[in-house]
Amino acid sequence: MRDPKRVAILISGRGSNMRALVEQADDYDVVLIASNKPDADGLRWAADRGLNTWALESKGVSKEEYDRRLSDALEEHDAGTIALAGFMRILSPSFVEKWRGRILNIHPSLLPKYRGLETHQRAIAAGDTISGCSVHIVTEELDAGEVLGQAEVPIEAGDTPDSLERRVLAAEHQLYPKILSEFVVR
Ligand code: GRF
Repeated sequence: MRDPKRVAILISGRGSNMRALVEQADDYDVVLIASNKPDADGLRWAADRGLNTWALESKGVSKEEYDRRLSDALEEHDAGTIALAGFMRILSPSFVEKWRGRILNIHPSLLPKYRGLETHQRAIAAGDTISGCSVHIVTEELDAGEVLGQAEVPIEAGDTPDSLERRVLAAEHQLYPKILSEFVVR
C-alpha cells in the first residue's frame, strides 16, 4: 500500500500551482516533480530548491511507452498521490487504471462547466458572473472525475480572459494545497 502523503507533482510549464503545493506542503511530502517538457520553468525552480526532478521529452516516444516510463519514475520515488499542475498531456487509460483514484488535477473553471481549454474566454463569452476553479480526481474522461473542491471567483465587468485568469490562478494557489492536504488523510 502506497503512502498517499508521498506526493509527485506533474507539470508542463511555469508551475505556479506546483510552487503553491510545495510552499504549503505541511501535511504531505513532495517526493518528485516530473515534466514532459525538460525546459519547463517550474522544473528549474524545483531543482534549485533541491527537489527531485524527472523530465522526458514526449516527441518520438509512443504514448504507452512514455506513460510506462513516467510510471516507473513515480514508483522509483514511491509516490502515493499524483498531483497534475498544468500537465498538458492526456494520460493513457492504462496509466489511469494503474493509479486509479490517486491522481488529482486542478482545472480553471467550476466543473462540470467548461471542460478542456480556454475556460476563461468561454465563461466570459457565455455572460457568466461567477467563475472559479476545481480540484478533481482524474479518470479516463477529460476533466470529468469526482470534484473534491471548488473556489468561486466573480467575473467583473470589463474582465478579459487574462484578467480573469490572474484572479482564478490566485484562487487555485489557495484551493489546491488545501484540497490535497485533505485528500492525503482521507
Ligand atoms: C492553471 O490554470 C491550471 O488550472 C491549469 O493549467 C494552468 C497551470 O498553470 N490546469 P501553472 O503552470 O500552475 O502556473
